[in-house]
Order: sequence, then C-alpha cells, then structure tokens
Amino acid sequence: MRKVPLANSLRIIGRGSLNWIAERPIVVSFEVTDACTCYCKHCDHGGPREESRNLKPADYRRYMEALKPCVVQVSGGEPLMRSDLVEIVRTIKNGKGVPYTILVSNWSEMTEERYLALRDAGIDQFSVSLDFPDGRHDVFRGHPGLFDHLSTIMPRLAALGHDDIVLNSCITSENVAEIGAIADMARSWGVNLCYSAYSARRTGCRDYFLNTPEQIALLNEQLDGVERRRDQSRWIVNSTTTLDATRRYFERGGTPGCQAGLRFLVVTADGSLQPCSMQFKKYPLEGQSRMVSEFTSANKCDECYVSIRSYLDKSFPRLLWENVSGFLSVKQGN
Ligand SMILES: C[S@@+](CC[C@H](N)C(=O)[O-])C[C@H]1O[C@@H](n2cnc3c(N)ncnc32)[C@H](O)[C@@H]1O
Ligand code: SF4
Ligand code: SF4
Repeated sequence: MRKVPLANSLRIIGRGSLNWIAERPIVVSFEVTDACTCYCKHCDHGGPREESRNLKPADYRRYMEALKPCVVQVSGGEPLMRSDLVEIVRTIKNGKGVPYTILVSNWSEMTEERYLALRDAGIDQFSVSLDFPDGRHDVFRGHPGLFDHLSTIMPRLAALGHDDIVLNSCITSENVAEIGAIADMARSWGVNLCYSAYSARRTGCRDYFLNTPEQIALLNEQLDGVERRRDQSRWIVNSTTTLDATRRYFERGGTPGCQAGLRFLVVTADGSLQPCSMQFKKYPLEGQSRMVSEFTSANKCDECYVSIRSYLDKSFPRLLWENVSGFLSVKQGN
C-alpha cells in the first residue's frame, strides 16, 4: 500500500490529535447519494432513490470547515453515480494533503478516465468492494457482469502503478470459506486487501452473520492463512490487532465500546449528521456536540465492526502508533 509522504503524515496526525482533544470526529463519512447500481443481499441501499435534496458540491465546504476531519470516506449508496463526484472531492480536499480521502465504491461505473480524474482531485485510496472471487459476486450484488468488469479494470488500473487500490471484502456466512481465495484475487489483480465484517443491523437479517462454531472455525482457519501472507509491502491493510478483533466480534456476536458520533460520524446525502450509517437519529451540522451528549454517551449498540470502527475504537496512543508505523508513513525518505 502506498505510503503517505512524511509532511502529509504529520499534518494528518496533527489534525487528528487536535480533533481527539476537541471531541471533533477523526473520520467523517460523506454518503453522497442513497441511490445504488447494485442490489446487494447484505445492504439496505440498492436501486434508484430520490436525489433532488442531495448536497451540491459547494455545500461540502461548510461541512469541512466545521468538522475538520483528518480522514474522509466518500461513500453512499454508490458514489460513482454522481456525475459531479470529481467536484465534490475537489471541494473536500481544497487542494491540500489533509484530509486523507478514501472513495468507497463498487466500481460498476469506474473507468480509467474517472480513476485518473478522481486521483487528480485528491482521492488517496480507492476502496473497491468484492464479496466473491468469481461470478457469485454478481449474484450477491444483483449486478450481472460486475465481476467481469472488475476483472478487466482492476488489473489495468493497478498496472498504472499508483498503488492506491484496496479490495474491500465484507466477511459473511456466504463468503467465509473464500477469504483466502479473495486474497489470491487481490494478489493476481495487483491490488491491496482489506476485510470488514457483516453486521445484521443494516437489514435485520442474521443469516449472513457467522452463527455456528463451524463457521467460526472456518473464519479462524482462513484468517490464519491471511496472517501468514503479510509482508513488508503492507498489501494486507488491516492490522493483526484489527483482524483479531474481527474474530472476537464474530465469536461474541458483537463489539461494545462504540464511539459513533464522537470519533466518527456520517453526513447523509441531504446534509444531516448521523452517528453512523446504521443509526438514523439525525442532527444538523451545528449539532455534533449534542449528538455526543445525547447519543454517544448513552450508546450501548455493539452490532457492527465495520472498518470505520475497527480503525477508531482503539486508544489514542495505539491508533497513533499503528498509523505512524503502518497506514501513514513518517519514516525518513518515504
Ligand atoms: C454501504 S457500501 C457503500 C459504497 C459502495 N456502494 C460499495 O458497495 O462499496 C460500503 C461498504 O459497506 C459494506 N456493507 C454493506 N452492507 C453491510 C453490512 N450489512 N454489514 C457490513 N458491511 C456492509 C459493503 O460491502 C461495502 O464494502
Ligand atoms: S453494499 Fe454498496 S453496492 Fe451494495 S447495495 Fe449497498 S451501497 Fe449498493
Ligand atoms: S456499533 Fe456503533 S457504528 Fe456500529 S451500528 Fe452500532 S452505533 Fe453504529
């Protein structure tokens, strides 16, 4: 995984430290649309939605000035459905190295032109969802031809050499046996790899959770295999502590101690603040501290371990160490 240059790493860590103290979010996820090109079995988005109240690109400036996140996720729905996505990203980045900006997408609408334009606008990392290493991906996502499209475009754009594409696989009961094969796929396409964990909170369906001792044993066996494949290139983006916490999440059926609303939050397509993508209590932009006192301080929800949580539930020293030694780089010469 491409390392962030020294000066930017320090800026990001500096802003993160200030936000931690000031109780502003470290990560903000902008859901730039609720509409989607897919109909995934594990998700509540899917298909067209009313789009007339979506924020316009210029509106994002106000959110950035108020929240000052050091990491931004641009997500949805499917963010590539917005024809003005490049403009949104430019407003978020404002020509600066901070925030570190991740586009979370299914890539059904990705082209080489758009990839290059989005990089130019300031996307630092492209997170691309993959649930299966073959045509079962199309079935799970309700999008015929998606796997073939990814098989063509992923290696082609990876070969440009920017090392900023991360295959993101959400572990479910359906694909737990494929964890290793998904790692093979990432390697053969020349991209990095990140795992996240299914939450039943989004749809209410527990069938895709790991519910049996056999499924947990399979998870551990497959993740042990992934651990053996780590190397200096950091192509496996999750830290070992995060993958260990993912195992515990499935074993215990949840992970307490969620900091949604405080360390991270979601901005919905029409501009409300929400603690996370699966808690729908809405606040205006100026209501973030009220969200912390009303929601975060009383929150007992333990129903997900999605990547935003796995990244931020740690103590500040731990988070800083993992960033300094891994995700961001402060090594001389990098
Ligand atoms: C909601 S999607 C939005 C971005 C884009 N449409 C995509 O699929 O990448 C972001 C991520 O959430 C994951 N996801 C969807 N439903 C989930 C669930 N019930 N639990 C955990 N992750 C989920 C997806 O697999 C995807 O990686
Ligand atoms: S996971 Fe992403 S691609 Fe699938 S329905 Fe949800 S928003 Fe759309
Ligand atoms: S654990 Fe936190 S981030 Fe996850 S669904 Fe519950 S409140 Fe949201």
